[in-house]
Amino acid sequence: MKFLLRSGKISEPSAACIDAALGWASADRGPGAHQAIAFTLPMSHHILYQSQAKPPCPPAAKVLPMARRYIRQLLDGDSLDDVFLVGDKQLRTNRQGNPYLQIELRDRSGQITGRLWNATEHLSRQFDSGDFIQARGKVQSFQGALQVILSSVTVVPSEKMDVADFLPHTEQDLSKLQEKLKQALNKVQQPNLKALVQVFLMDERFMASLAKVPAGVRNHHAYVGGLLEHIVKLLEIADRVLPLYPGLDKDLVLVGLFLHDLGKVRELTFDRSFSYTDEGQLIGHMVIGVEMLNEKMREVEQLVGEKFPDELAWRLKHVILAHHGSHEYGSPKLPMTPEAMAVHCLDNLDAKLHSLLRDIREDRGSTSAWTPYNQALQRKLYKGGVSTNAEDAPLED
Ligand SMILES: [Fe+2]
Ligand SMILES: [Fe+2]
Repeated sequence: MKFLLRSGKISEPSAACIDAALGWASADRGPGAHQAIAFTLPMSHHILYQSQAKPPCPPAAKVLPMARRYIRQLLDGDSLDDVFLVGDKQLRTNRQGNPYLQIELRDRSGQITGRLWNATEHLSRQFDSGDFIQARGKVQSFQGALQVILSSVTVVPSEKMDVADFLPHTEQDLSKLQEKLKQALNKVQQPNLKALVQVFLMDERFMASLAKVPAGVRNHHAYVGGLLEHIVKLLEIADRVLPLYPGLDKDLVLVGLFLHDLGKVRELTFDRSFSYTDEGQLIGHMVIGVEMLNEKMREVEQLVGEKFPDELAWRLKHVILAHHGSHEYGSPKLPMTPEAMAVHCLDNLDAKLHSLLRDIREDRGSTSAWTPYNQALQRKLYKGGVSTNAEDAPLED
């Protein structure tokens, strides 16, 4: 399909002729073009650890419960005996100098910290982030948050598991989000930006990744489909806010919101757990995004038969590079155009409000008036009610 479009000779870069060419291409792909990515999970299976004075566990395959309790349903005092995806895992030392294992247990409803006392380095090496373990233990409230004191962990063979049951997932319908995205971007009028949007929308691999990638590993929209949900929300906010600022280049803001985080499809990996790729660690999503934008601008040039306007390219790249708003948060450039400032502020609004509302919603089972400490926001959040524990008071920086 790309070959046909690239070889097409369209001399006038009019919106109508681009629509005609791309409409034909889009129809040719047919429905269901954006399919889910399959997960493959190679793994081994053996018993890992049993705390002292307890008999060994039976093999995990024989003890998998028929119906699981999700992390979001757990309460203080509950017993735990379920399979979880391992998020982060650290071998730490307590105040007495004894090693213990801190494991982030995940299912699709959320995550909870598990602690296994008297762990060893040998044990710690037996499994990693992205593996599945059968975890047994007791849920308890600690400093206003729930945690699990583990009595045993057992590696579970990955081929027995469906990873989709363990990764947090947007609660929204992905195909509806994709439809909303296309409808919002249909409003773009400027011919070069319109062609650019269509070239991205026609890229099946990009769109499949965009539909899956989280917006972040931890801070906000950290679930499958999170970035797409974030982008669609931003476009909905823009639809209401942009009429209040007629001086803004509306098309540039819309395309900027669509593409501000596009580099995340290469910055983050999201097959078995959410983490950074090597490219993501070394380059970061803003620079990766500009690289991807350059590639697509060349495709637009071939499609419309003329150079992508330099100033428009600079303005759009600037929106991407400046969207974190400050050097401190990784932007190499501060927002220096109204459109870049608009994208930064809207992005910040959605990211921060999502994080606050999620923390307050998910801090169930706690009697504290305050949520646990939010690392990204560097504060606890006030939920209301009365604190019953002096340790619940918000921390000062
Ligand atoms: Fe970003
Ligand atoms: Fe964002």
